[in-house]
Amino acid sequence: MRASGRNVLVMGATGRLGVAIARALTTRGDRVHLTARSEERLLDLSAELAKCGEKPQTIPVDLSKPNAPECLVDELRGRNLAVDDVVLACGPFPRTPFGTLVRSDLENALTVHAVAPLLIVQLLASDLTNAQGAVVALTDAGVTRPFPNHVAYLTAKGAVQSGLRALAEELAPDVRVNMVALGIVSDPEADSDPLRTHRLATRSRLGRFGTPEEVTHVVLSLLDSTWATGEIWGIGR
Ligand SMILES: NC(=O)c1ccc[n+]([C@@H]2O[C@H](COP(=O)([O-])OP(=O)(O)OC[C@H]3O[C@@H](n4cnc5c(N)ncnc54)[C@H](OP(=O)(O)O)[C@@H]3O)[C@@H](O)[C@H]2O)c1
Repeated sequence: MRASGRNVLVMGATGRLGVAIARALTTRGDRVHLTARSEERLLDLSAELAKCGEKPQTIPVDLSKPNAPECLVDELRGRNLAVDDVVLACGPFPRTPFGTLVRSDLENALTVHAVAPLLIVQLLASDLTNAQGAVVALTDAGVTRPFPNHVAYLTAKGAVQSGLRALAEELAPDVRVNMVALGIVSDPEADSDPLRTHRLATRSRLGRFGTPEEVTHVVLSLLDSTWATGEIWGIGR
């Protein structure tokens, strides 16, 4: 177990899982820097977290923009914000039926889920190295057990998994890079089909969706797992 009081960049901080992770890190005494696109939601979360720890800095960034990695890192440096660890919980879950799949679907998903995160870790490599830091990314059990209508998303998640495994090699032994390949916590399309939730839940051996707290537990464990790198821990499969 590492000492708390780490500086953790949480990407996708306003999402269902990002919020839970940012809350848990703040509660245990880490300082979080929050990024996502919506400035309003970032400020709301920062105000909430300020009640139980140091007020988090917020950096709105759209990762689909080509210069997003540089803008984010310039902003961190401009504010003298240290980054010891990174949690990657960002990105959309686009429905891209194969029959209508176009180049931009693949490019958009790859940019936000894989290209931008990999470049951000590369730009922060010296900070992470100095801090003997860790990167933990949320990937998807669907990479090895695909589901329909999400070719672009699953392709991008597979890419980031391979890329981060390669970074684990590049950055060892100073920086650890690990992933959590999770089953379903929430299904954005559940409302459109009442039987869908049941059908999807029963794909998991445990017969149910997970909770943000269950994912957070594993993310924090991997941040603290000082003898693990290049690992992909599966949960909820
Ligand atoms: N929830 C699940 O069941 C599940 C299952 C398997 C894997 N995962 C993975 O776990 C991670 C978190 O999932 P989640 O359910 O918390 O997702 P979510 O609720 O959709 O949140 C996604 C986060 O990413 C941000 N984001 C989206 N597009 C962005 C962009 N272009 N630039 C910068 N930020 C962007 C969103 O904020 P803005 O919209 O303000 O930008 C939000 O903070 C994702 O990587 C997802 O693929 C989730």
